[in-house]
Amino acid sequence: MLQPVSAPVSPEGPVLQAAADTWGSVMEQIRSKQARIAVVGMGHVGLPTALGLAAQGWRVFGVDSYLPLISLLQAGKAPFYELGLEGLLLEYLGKGFFPLDNLNQAIREATVVFLCVGTPQKSSGEADLSQVETAARAIAQNLNGYKLIIEKSTVPAITAQWIDRTIRRFARNEQQGKVTVDFDVASNPEFLQEGVALQSIRQPDRVVCGVDSERARAILEEIYGSLRCPLLITGLSTAEIIKHAANSFLSMKISFINMVADLCDSIGADVSQVAEGIGMDPRIGRRFLQAGIGFGGYCFPKDLRAFIFLAQEYGVDFSLLKEVEAINQRRVELFVKKVRSALWVLRDKTIAALGLAFKPGTDDTRESPSLRVVNALLQEGATLRAHDPKAMPLLPKAPPPGAGHLTYCDSPYAAAAGAQALLILTDWPDYRRLDWQRIHREMDLPLLVDGRNLLDPETMSRLGFEYISVGRPKAGAR
Ligand code: UGA
Repeated sequence: MLQPVSAPVSPEGPVLQAAADTWGSVMEQIRSKQARIAVVGMGHVGLPTALGLAAQGWRVFGVDSYLPLISLLQAGKAPFYELGLEGLLLEYLGKGFFPLDNLNQAIREATVVFLCVGTPQKSSGEADLSQVETAARAIAQNLNGYKLIIEKSTVPAITAQWIDRTIRRFARNEQQGKVTVDFDVASNPEFLQEGVALQSIRQPDRVVCGVDSERARAILEEIYGSLRCPLLITGLSTAEIIKHAANSFLSMKISFINMVADLCDSIGADVSQVAEGIGMDPRIGRRFLQAGIGFGGYCFPKDLRAFIFLAQEYGVDFSLLKEVEAINQRRVELFVKKVRSALWVLRDKTIAALGLAFKPGTDDTRESPSLRVVNALLQEGATLRAHDPKAMPLLPKAPPPGAGHLTYCDSPYAAAAGAQALLILTDWPDYRRLDWQRIHREMDLPLLVDGRNLLDPETMSRLGFEYISVGRPKAGAR
């Protein structure tokens, strides 16, 4: 049986240890799943995490300070689209999952606190950690027994140390100088992908736990022990760096293949086959080599900038990642140029845009390259007829002042009606299965510009389209 060990000595001095019997009862409660878990932040990471834990038999408080969000959850409604999420919410609401807007209460009742709050970026690229700090202070003020604080939000290295320090400082103030706090901090970065979040939680490739005490390790092993995947135990900062390094590396793969695509476009080679050819080497791997209009979303662009900023802070010039970002920025411009060279003048042209979310399987449009394309075309005075299976209700109804016209359409066929070009901007699999003959009939000019290489050039050409994609030769030109 695991015994309590000394917690690390903090800059403020040693922590009082839980008595062995107290620790024994903590572990007993963890093993029997009687211990409560609080998940702070009900966003794209927090909510699936909380429901995943509830599904494993834990009693979980889903905490958020935004009251309308909690009301929505209490009514059994998911605040964003994610396959299977609402079903899971309805299944566990009031059974293992309890939405709550009272952070203090949740902390007091919980033994394990997952921090899943937002870490948006500042204009400098640096991560804004104010929500993490607020949560740490609340924990300090409600430290009524041993707690394990698990940082799950993507944060720069040494944030866990700051959480630890902040809790000690504020707990000390609360108790007029006497340090009677008893807690551990762990870093457990989340690798879930939007659109397949529940699958990512149920069957992760790996679980990374950054710990600096045996107690934290023991609890995390209990929480994740039933998963059939490697559990990598590291130090705190190492775990934090693993998350930033993983997202930056994946972004780098995408920017790399996008540059190869540009070369293929110039030479007349096929980037999909290049990706297949290099991806067959297990040292490279096939995934994340899909060329197109670039990466977006809440994670890659922000995490890349935060990692560059962190490196700079420590005197490391990570210029490789600066280039990854610059390449990605240029993708939209290059794509709009492709549309322009096919259509010539864009003003008053009617263009259908299929896909607005930053990737398929989600209604999330944060930093979506699709929206950047739509906005760039509107700025040039084009009339846009847009469609997305999930994202449309969340988007502003009117285009920015001075721009062309934007209409949201109920179906891809309605979007195609009278269009002089149709653009594929998000690779929703449903678009592959459209009745493309019907789309052809609906359009004014059968020009198809595929920003995600979703369709087959030969098939589209056979159907009578002028088909342009990214880094792949036109049909018949191979
Ligand atoms: C990403 C990571 O993949 C997750 O492991 C991580 O947990 C998450 O960020 C996070 O930090 O929370 P996500 O942002 O949901 O997940 O989306 P991805 O599937 O990674 O796609 C990101 C962007 O890259 C999308 O715009 C997608 O269209 C683009 N992409 C992806 C490409 O352009 N090419 C590819 O080959 C793959």
